[in-house]
Amino acid sequence: MPKDPTNQKPFLRALRGEIQERPCFWLMRQAGRYLPEYRETRAKANGFVDLCLRPDLATEITLQPLRRYHMDAAILFSDILMVPYGLGQPLSFREGEGPVLEPVRDAAAIDKLAQNLAGFDAKVAPIYETVSRVQAGLPATTALIGFAGAPWTVATYMVEGGTSKDFANVRLLAYRDEAAFKRLIDLLVAATIGYLNRQVEAGAEALQLFDTWAGVLPEGEYRKWVIAPAAKIVAGVRVKHPNVPIVFFPKGSGLLYREAAAIPGVNALGLDTSVPLAFAQELQKLKTVQGNLDPIALCAGGPALVDAATRILDALGKGPFVFNLGHGVIPPTPPANVAELAELIGKWRAKAA
Ligand code: CP3
Repeated sequence: MPKDPTNQKPFLRALRGEIQERPCFWLMRQAGRYLPEYRETRAKANGFVDLCLRPDLATEITLQPLRRYHMDAAILFSDILMVPYGLGQPLSFREGEGPVLEPVRDAAAIDKLAQNLAGFDAKVAPIYETVSRVQAGLPATTALIGFAGAPWTVATYMVEGGTSKDFANVRLLAYRDEAAFKRLIDLLVAATIGYLNRQVEAGAEALQLFDTWAGVLPEGEYRKWVIAPAAKIVAGVRVKHPNVPIVFFPKGSGLLYREAAAIPGVNALGLDTSVPLAFAQELQKLKTVQGNLDPIALCAGGPALVDAATRILDALGKGPFVFNLGHGVIPPTPPANVAELAELIGKWRAKAA
């Protein structure tokens, strides 16, 4: 059970719309290859999937960045592709290549995966164990974020068989056999609702839904495959967990961020690096916003980092806001730059107008 039953942790309050004197922060991929202690722990596992399924190692990795920096939230160490794994789709991660999945390209393959839904929880059970262990080891004011990939983004990996440049196979399937593709999306919606509910029951205090490839869809497809599934997942989680704050990160949505902001039950919007701060201020009138420092500016450090971070704080720090990157920390980032950013955020205060 969470140690904070009254939900007083600063990060949870920020997601519920509270304006804070010192903005909260955490960083996507805050646990990862830029930290030498991550690389050391990762070497103890038999590959990346095994790492995600080892509660001892995944707990250690989740907590590593918190020992160096005072983030307001920890994010469960796992991966969005553990949902296809839980549905029985073979998954591996190759050094320098990223994820490799056996592609699912037709109705028969989708129906086969649907038959595995009943066995999903048993396959991913070690992840729920990690959530409980992390919750037990957290500093008192730090919140634990559980997460999942949104159906569209997860489907891109499932259909393409890995990372893609043009997303041609998945978009062709959605156009040519919409009924089959909708079955895949609906299967992912069902699996994801159960998966997120179980994370909350194990001790996650907030949830983030990652839709990394939302930005590749035209608006009609965006409504079908980004907005509608996210709305179903949020509503589905709310049935059992009416109060858990939910962040939606539909990366690259551009003006369609307005529609993402209108999804009932979404507490906060994750903004990517391309969102202009004036537009972010407009979105902030509807929801808490989270973002959107360029991860490359964090890697660069120095005056470029100070300037970019200060502009974001000055524009968004006076409203409901969580400081984050616009995408994940990149591996060559010097850990000292993260310390510098944490200090800058900690010292920043809204100036009287
Ligand atoms: O943010 C965190 O610190 C929590 C852990 C986390 C990981 N992946 C760890 C990871 C989270 C939340 C994710 C989400 C994820 N995974 C997304 C959505 C967010 C985003 O980054 O856009 C996506 C698209 C994936 C899929 C994925 N996982 C890819 C394409 C890759 C290979 C590319 C890469 O960065 O290596 C991964 C691997 C992965 N997931 C690593 C980590 C730390 C690196 C694996 C390694 O150590 O070799």
